[in-house]
Amino acid sequence: MEMIEIRGGNRLHGEVAVSGAKNAALPLLFATLLASGQSRLDNVPRLRDCDTVEKLLGIFGARVERSGNTFLVDTRDVASIEAPYDLVRTMRASVLALGPLTARFGRARVSLPGGCAIGARPIDLHLKGLEAMGAEITLDQGYVETRAERLVGARVYLDLPTVTGTENLMMAAALARGETLLENAAREPEIVDLAEALNKMGALVEGAGSDTIRIQGADDLAPYEHATMADRIEAGTFLVAGAITGGEVLVRGAMPQHLEAMLAKLRDSGARLEELEDGIRVHGPDRPLPASIVTSPHPGFPTDMQAQFMALMCLADGSCQISEQVFENRFMHVCELQRMGADIQIAGHTATVRGVERLKGAPVMATDLRASASLVLAGLAAEGTTAVSRIYHLDRGYEHIEEKLAGLGADIRRVRARG
Ligand code: EPZ
Repeated sequence: MEMIEIRGGNRLHGEVAVSGAKNAALPLLFATLLASGQSRLDNVPRLRDCDTVEKLLGIFGARVERSGNTFLVDTRDVASIEAPYDLVRTMRASVLALGPLTARFGRARVSLPGGCAIGARPIDLHLKGLEAMGAEITLDQGYVETRAERLVGARVYLDLPTVTGTENLMMAAALARGETLLENAAREPEIVDLAEALNKMGALVEGAGSDTIRIQGADDLAPYEHATMADRIEAGTFLVAGAITGGEVLVRGAMPQHLEAMLAKLRDSGARLEELEDGIRVHGPDRPLPASIVTSPHPGFPTDMQAQFMALMCLADGSCQISEQVFENRFMHVCELQRMGADIQIAGHTATVRGVERLKGAPVMATDLRASASLVLAGLAAEGTTAVSRIYHLDRGYEHIEEKLAGLGADIRRVRARG
């Protein structure tokens, strides 16, 4: 079993480049199913989740060629419309196949993703929207099946601004007859990236990035050529790495407009940030100041940065409150941070963090993607050695994180543990 071993205490310095965004690449790869022909997607990060999409597209019958960070996806021979449970359970974003397959082939059969470590994560809003567009939905042995002669544009109000729900319905609407209006839509930058690709394919998507998205469906769409946007969560993670070690790090590719809420809190914690043409430089404080956060859908503080920010607050000169309002169980990193000496009390959706002078390295276990990032960050600042196990969680969302951190002066390596 692989682990990541960190000897803490080095102040990071230098520059690091951000990879393509996982949460943009996944919907973009499924969007290739909307057209017949070869699409090209560049700047795709080399992550386990992207490997899973490659397998799924192959199961549908697409021909996928990967070279470096480029995917060539030829969908001319797509025939199957079933996403099997053994793949879907490893990556809930597989539900993004529902919209494109239903829109293009009139049918889809996708395993229900099931819950995951951070919450139940139902897809009821995805299905409500497809039903409003005329799809007949049935549940059969843990699979969702959709059928539709042809989807028809509809006005859909999303009870929650679901990110993949918005993406699924945008893709479905792109081939529906007539106009679709998505209200209370998610506003994440990844949605804007998907809209750009859909428009390149011949759809007419307006308002992406706002809470109301209007899509004129087309009778058919053409393959696209597109480059995935930079990963704002990876960028945020490296900014926190510079801050928590009191270092000075230039995160190349970080886009301030994608992280405003998080950057504001980083400044409140005493970090100095320089917004440059092609990135952001962070100057970490000797000791962070406490800064309370409440996670919320974009443009609020991103839930995907909550665990990483908590690691920073564990060392703050004072107490703060960290409230997780998007997912019901996204504090799995707390007990591991406590094993490193953090002083954190949880009451419902809110954790009270009392900063300590220093954390102590310890063997800790990753439980989900961002929790594992939080443990690595804590290890960078802790006294002594931290060994993070179950790092397959980390590999789902970070491309060569230990190499990138070592390049910034961290004493970090991937080791194969016995047993
Ligand atoms: C996306 O997940 C991201 N994943 C998540 O990133 C991210 O944490 C999340 O958005 C919130 O920003 C991808 O983009 C692949 P949601 P998603 O639907 O779309 C409830 C990471 O670390 N909900 O916006 O699954 C749901 O239970 C991952 O990279 C319903 O109730 O999130 C949750 O409480 C983790 N019914 C809330 O909405 C639905 O039909 C937000 O979920 C859909 C969602």
